Amino acid sequence: MTTNALITGWGMYVPSRVMTNDDLAKIVDTSDEWIVSRTGIHERRIAADDETTTTLSVNASRDALAVAGVEPGEVDLIVLGTCSPDYPLPATSTTVARDLGATNAAAFDLQAACSGFVYAMATANAFVRSGMYRNVLVIGVEVLSRFMNWKDRNTCVLFGDGAGAVLVQASDRPGGMSGFHLFADGTGFEGIIVPAGGSACPATPQTVADGLHTVHMAGRDVYKYATRQLAESALAAVRDAGLTMDDIDQFVFHQANLRIIENVAKQLDMPMEKTYINIEKYGNTSAASVPMALVEAVAAGRIKPGDQVLMVAFGAGFTAAAAVVEWTADPARAFLAPGSQTRLGRPQRQLEEAAV
Ligand code: UT7
Repeated sequence: MTTNALITGWGMYVPSRVMTNDDLAKIVDTSDEWIVSRTGIHERRIAADDETTTTLSVNASRDALAVAGVEPGEVDLIVLGTCSPDYPLPATSTTVARDLGATNAAAFDLQAACSGFVYAMATANAFVRSGMYRNVLVIGVEVLSRFMNWKDRNTCVLFGDGAGAVLVQASDRPGGMSGFHLFADGTGFEGIIVPAGGSACPATPQTVADGLHTVHMAGRDVYKYATRQLAESALAAVRDAGLTMDDIDQFVFHQANLRIIENVAKQLDMPMEKTYINIEKYGNTSAASVPMALVEAVAAGRIKPGDQVLMVAFGAGFTAAAAVVEWTADPARAFLAPGSQTRLGRPQRQLEEAAV
């Protein structure tokens, strides 16, 4: 009997603090008009002082497990995609396991920058299909606000914080993950880089003074590479699934720049009404952007059982990744209201009121 890897639970979490383009215009030389016209971003979420990559992950994961009806102790493996971990050492997935109570889970982090979640989905698929694990929790999460140079308008206007999680389960039911394309080209490693704090350039008072522990990006070069590679990876994954682009019901792209998504949609003849967009609310949340868009697309009724969903991402490295998933779960399992952050049907607002 074939073992398939199905998505049975999903959840997301974003911090409640909103930073608008006008807020940014007070700290760097920029404007709402420039940011919206070049990127499509209107606002982004910024983690509170007491929030970390672990806490965001745990909030998203609790929802994903509750939707799947799986207890933390039943999770076999946690694969966490991030480039903004709590610490260089140990892996954030281990503190997520601790705080979730996933006491029987193996856990590791996966660093493929913005492509991290889709790489992690391919990893989960391989573990499940090999028969090694049955319940794999996959997380895409970033607290990039802690890695920003808030004086650099080239980067600080782009990124935001958030988390998305799915539970991938072994099943003999048809559907689930069917096609992949994973890509890396290290010749582009300087395109998006945190130059200091690693073995190539250890942290010193000078590197800190020079802001070398923050994200640097050659935006225009990345833009050109991303638009070409996203289209190639999308096509390769669809081919790998034995499908054509016409078979795809919903496109869930990494939300780095609305212009990039529109450009790729044009190359692929992909109708914009089949393309879920939420960059205006969250900016570029790197590894969290694909799962957050997936969760919202399901909540908005854009993804139904039987639909073929194509997820595609591009990021630092350069890396790219694409995956095709036949959606099988009943969206009503999570009563997420479109566009609003919820916790199993209860708007976050209500939860906050209840906590006071
Ligand atoms: O998620 C991982 C992958 N990342 C990406 O895919 C990002 C890819 N790159 C991009 O999305 C775009 O290149 C950006 C949004 C980063 C930049 O847009 P652009 O249209 O490529 O602008 P640019 O970098 O070519 O800069 C155009 C001008 C420059 O001024 P000059 O040299 O023409 O006088 C910049 O200094 O815009 C200036 N500029 C800004 N002006 C106002 C750059 N950032 C800002 C800003 N506000 N925030």
